[in-house]
Amino acid sequence: MIYHRHFQLKKYNAFQTEAFAKIFCEPATIEELRQAILDYPQEQKLVLGAGCNLFFTRDFDGLVIKPNFKGLREMPDQEDGSILVEVMASEDWDSFVAHCVENGYAGLENLSFIPGSVGAAPIQNIGAYGAEVKDCIQEVVALDMATGQSLSFTAQECEFGYRDSIFKRTKKYIVISVVFRLNKSFQYVEKYADLNQELSELEQPSISDVREAVIRVRKRKLPDHLELPNCGSFFKNPYISAEIAEKIKSEYENLPLYPVEGGLLKTSAAFLIDRAGFRGIREGNVGTYPNQALIIVNYGTADGNEIVRFMNRIRDAVNQKFGIMLEPEVWMF
Ligand code: EPU
Repeated sequence: MIYHRHFQLKKYNAFQTEAFAKIFCEPATIEELRQAILDYPQEQKLVLGAGCNLFFTRDFDGLVIKPNFKGLREMPDQEDGSILVEVMASEDWDSFVAHCVENGYAGLENLSFIPGSVGAAPIQNIGAYGAEVKDCIQEVVALDMATGQSLSFTAQECEFGYRDSIFKRTKKYIVISVVFRLNKSFQYVEKYADLNQELSELEQPSISDVREAVIRVRKRKLPDHLELPNCGSFFKNPYISAEIAEKIKSEYENLPLYPVEGGLLKTSAAFLIDRAGFRGIREGNVGTYPNQALIIVNYGTADGNEIVRFMNRIRDAVNQKFGIMLEPEVWMF
C-alpha cells in the first residue's frame, strides 16, 4: 500500500475545499488497514467515505484513511420472509439501493439517490421521506482504530438516533461492512407528504415506482454535488419545546412540527432559514440553494472558512429571529 505525503483532499470532499493531508492511504483489505494503524500509531486519524458530508477548513496534520472495501454477499432467505445482505463499506450507496429495488428487496427504496458510501450510512443514520437506515440494519462490522480489533455491533449497540450513532459520537471505529435485513415483499406505506403526492396517481405503487418518485423529488429540490458542490442538508432539523413552537406558530401558522421524544417537537430548519430571509441568497462564493434553504452551496471558494463564516451568519440570523441555535449536520475539519 502506498502512503502519499502532503496529499490534496479537494477531490475527496463534496464541497471541494482545498486542504492537504500529511499522510494519505487507501487500504483495500482489512489487513492493509490494520497495517496502516500499526505503521502510524502516533498520528491522529481521519477516515473518509465518499466525502459527501464533510469538508476541510485547514490541512489535516495526521493520517487520512480512505478505505476501498468492495463486495456484496447475500445470505440464504430467512424464515420470516426477509433476506440478509452484507455489503462492504466502500460500495456506492445508491448503486446498492438500485440493486435492492431491482431484486425486490424492500426497505431502502425511500433512501434512493442519497450520495455517499454504504459505510457512511450507519454513521449518521441517513434518513429521507420518513425512512431511516437503522430500521434495515441487522449488524455493523467495524474496526477499533486504537486496537485494530474488528467488532460486530447489533443495531441496538449502534445506539442510533436522528442523524446519530455510536460511530459518529465516539469517532473510534472504521466501518468495514454493514449487514442489512430486507423484506422480500413490498407494500407502499404513506409516510411523507412530498412522496405521497408524487405517487398520488398510482393506486398501488411498486417498489420501483417509489424509487423513481424519490429520485424525481430529490432532483427537483437538491443540487448535484458534482455540478454545484454541497453536502446536502447543512443543519439538523432542531428539536424545540412546545412553548417556543407556540410562539413561532403565532406568527407562522404553517410551521412544520412533528412530536419526538421527551415531549419535544421537531421542526424544519429549512423553514426557519427561509423565513429568516436566507433562501437562495449568495454572499461571495457561498450561498443557499434556491429550491431548498437547508442546502449550503459552494459557488467557487477553495477555502472552507468562507463556508463556516456563512454558516455562522445563518445560525445568528435564525437564533436572533426565533431563539433557536441550529446545529450543523455536516462535519467540518
Ligand atoms: N421548507 C421551507 N423552505 C425551503 C425548503 C423547505 O420552508 O427552502 C419547509 C417546507 O415547509 C417543507 C419542510 O421545510 O415542507 C421540509 O422540507 P423537506 O421535505 O425538503 O425536508 P427537510 O426536513 O428540509 C429532511 C432531511 C433531508 C431529506 C428530506 C426528505 C434533515 C437534516 N434533512 O430535509 O436529508 O432528504 O428531509 O426526507 O433531516 C440530508 O440529510 O443531507 C438530506 C438531504
